[in-house]
Amino acid sequence: MSTDLLTTRETRGGDSGTSAGAGERLRVAVIIGSTREGRVGAAVARWFATHAQQYDAFELDMVDLLEVPLPVRLTEEVTPELDAWSARIDRADAFVIVTPEYNHGYPAALKHAIDLLYREWHAKPVGFVSYGGVGRGLRAVEQLRQVFAELHAVTLRDSVSVNVSDGEVDDLGWVREHTGASTAAKRLLERLEWWADALHSARTASAYTA
Ligand SMILES: Cc1cc2nc3c(=O)[nH]c(=O)nc-3n(C[C@H](O)[C@H](O)[C@H](O)COP(=O)(O)O)c2cc1C
Repeated sequence: MSTDLLTTRETRGGDSGTSAGAGERLRVAVIIGSTREGRVGAAVARWFATHAQQYDAFELDMVDLLEVPLPVRLTEEVTPELDAWSARIDRADAFVIVTPEYNHGYPAALKHAIDLLYREWHAKPVGFVSYGGVGRGLRAVEQLRQVFAELHAVTLRDSVSVNVSDGEVDDLGWVREHTGASTAAKRLLERLEWWADALHSARTASAYTA
């Protein structure tokens, strides 16, 4: 790893303690990882949000990477775009990554958005909603677990995974009920609430340093 990147990591925003305060709802950023033309991802994310909205504990921020202006290269230059991205991720108490699988991996746009920040991800839980062909996006999820471990984030065991090439979503990208995905989403959200609450308390009690 370059010294430049280390410097960026140490200095860019985020003290991992500025998210929801006592009595406030836990802030969950749902990140849509696909920016592909004709993507299914936005619809899958909306489907998941309908489940998450049923939890009073959560305040949702739908993060569509297609609409977030980001620097095209990793940079130490402080730009308004990078500051805004830093503040948005720093504000969150938890993340749900909605990711497809491309060539047994996850989208490059998602990796770039992750790599631009460092402390903002620390000591926060990350859940996954994945989709793809027969692999249901699970290979992308397993790779993302390694990425988020490096970022001192905690990935949840339970995830939602959908086969979009086998009739599990309808023509509008909505996940069909018979797939069991709604039950999986509920379990994921329960786990996310537990971890988001626990880690928020921990970050409040003692700043996480890495
Ligand atoms: C470039 C590319 C590579 C893909 N590779 C895989 C793959 O390795 N495994 C898989 O299960 N599906 C694969 N797929 C299918 C996608 O997961 C599926 O089309 C999904 O809908 C893509 O998400 P999006 O529509 O939100 O972009 C691939 C699709 C594309 C466009």
